[in-house]
Amino acid sequence: MFTGFRRLKDLEIIKREAAADNPQALRRSLKLRDLLAIGLSAVLGSGIFVTVGLAAAGSRDYPAAGPALVVSFGIVSLACLLCVLCYAEFASFVPSAGSAYTYAYASLGEFWAWVIGWDLVLEYTVANIAVAISWSGYFASICSGLGWDLPPWLLHSYFGADPQTIASAPLFGGVPIVFNLPAVAIVLLLALVIMWGIRQSATLNDCLVIIKVLILLGAITLGALYIDPQNWVPFAPNGWVGIQAGAAIVFFSYIGFDAITTVAEETENPQRDLPWSMILTLGVGTAFYVATAAVLTGMVPYSQLGTPDPLATAFQLLNRPGVAAIIAVGAVLAITAVLLILQLAQPRIFFVMARDGLLPASWARVHPRYRTPYWTIIGTSLLVALGAGFLDLSIVIEMCNIGTLSAFILVCIGVIVMRHRYPHLERPFRTPWVPWVPLGGILCCLYLIAGMPALTWVRFAVWLVIGATIYFLYGYRHSHYQKPKLEGGEVNVSSES
Ligand code: ALA
Repeated sequence: MFTGFRRLKDLEIIKREAAADNPQALRRSLKLRDLLAIGLSAVLGSGIFVTVGLAAAGSRDYPAAGPALVVSFGIVSLACLLCVLCYAEFASFVPSAGSAYTYAYASLGEFWAWVIGWDLVLEYTVANIAVAISWSGYFASICSGLGWDLPPWLLHSYFGADPQTIASAPLFGGVPIVFNLPAVAIVLLLALVIMWGIRQSATLNDCLVIIKVLILLGAITLGALYIDPQNWVPFAPNGWVGIQAGAAIVFFSYIGFDAITTVAEETENPQRDLPWSMILTLGVGTAFYVATAAVLTGMVPYSQLGTPDPLATAFQLLNRPGVAAIIAVGAVLAITAVLLILQLAQPRIFFVMARDGLLPASWARVHPRYRTPYWTIIGTSLLVALGAGFLDLSIVIEMCNIGTLSAFILVCIGVIVMRHRYPHLERPFRTPWVPWVPLGGILCCLYLIAGMPALTWVRFAVWLVIGATIYFLYGYRHSHYQKPKLEGGEVNVSSES
């Protein structure tokens, strides 16, 4: 049973699988510009449009960070920078769509690879359910502003609806029909684009990114004119406790920058472009976050920002409803882009896991015409649509954060292990000051995890136990790396056992 800890995937096999002449490989058409757009799409979304306000104002569960939210962002960006430098090294010599899952397979072994893959389900699928629900909220408020009110039973999940909404719903076979129609519709619509092709998805994404960057730049510039320095006092109403709690929440904004690495097999020059696009994404994203946090808390007292749409709220409070309406439209487009990218990333991880035998082989099918992993796209989209339509998952943000931070920790450990295991391997990008940078990344991630409620740790532990059970019942037995050879001699065994 414990050989799963020692089964390693050979780097040569990873490269061969990702080679363009492999019929199971994906189509290479992405350039640096597309990768940067993918990264910015993932990091400028509901985090900057929604959670910024929640972290500044605090909630029943979290003390307010107040204007010191800029310090929270500083801490998170330091943690992410250290982790990005580790991701960048792996991305430069492991050009696989499996991202952190494949890095762990090559460095730490199959079991830990599975754990990362399982954590990434929290980062991509579960996060996307929450993002789809918040998209629906913004979309409904715009429709309502235009006089198109959808009935409440088409705007809530069954489990999140109040008794009045359930009572007003039509019945089907005696069961009230209550589901979040806009959330389901947007997820399925985006699935069609993603299935159509990576080039089409990237083009849509490029357009959405340009619009959201322009709207954010406009909001920050205009907002800066309304800054009243009195609103920055007190700067840190709850001291370090508030700053740490704020950091644990706004980490959600950074979730997804690593989605860039899931399109490694569709990138024209992955060795050069993957590392730099991640570093650039982090730099540009951080500049936007810090500017937004500083301007927002300067415009109005931080305690008034705890709404689902804090940027629009700030302009409404300052009597600028027109600007607030433009920001609401910008938020819908921005969140659409996040949905697109997270929904693009998850199927690629499942696809590689299936290619390795840890998931059913049919999940590794590539569409003969569009060269996209269409089975996993359909499966993931249905999963997200079901979750977004029928579940109320506002609490999952914490689960996404802890899952992603755990994956980052394993990537940092992986860099140190790989340096020992393959000291002479050619690395187009080298993480500087190893082991200090990865160790710093691990410590920062642990610090952010420590800022989360104990209940989140317990839920995460349960999540890991479920994942480990699935691995030992299925993946461990079906892994290609426990068999001497696959059909056609495609895969070698590379096990230290
Ligand atoms: N980073 C993503 C967002 O902010 C999840 O919406």
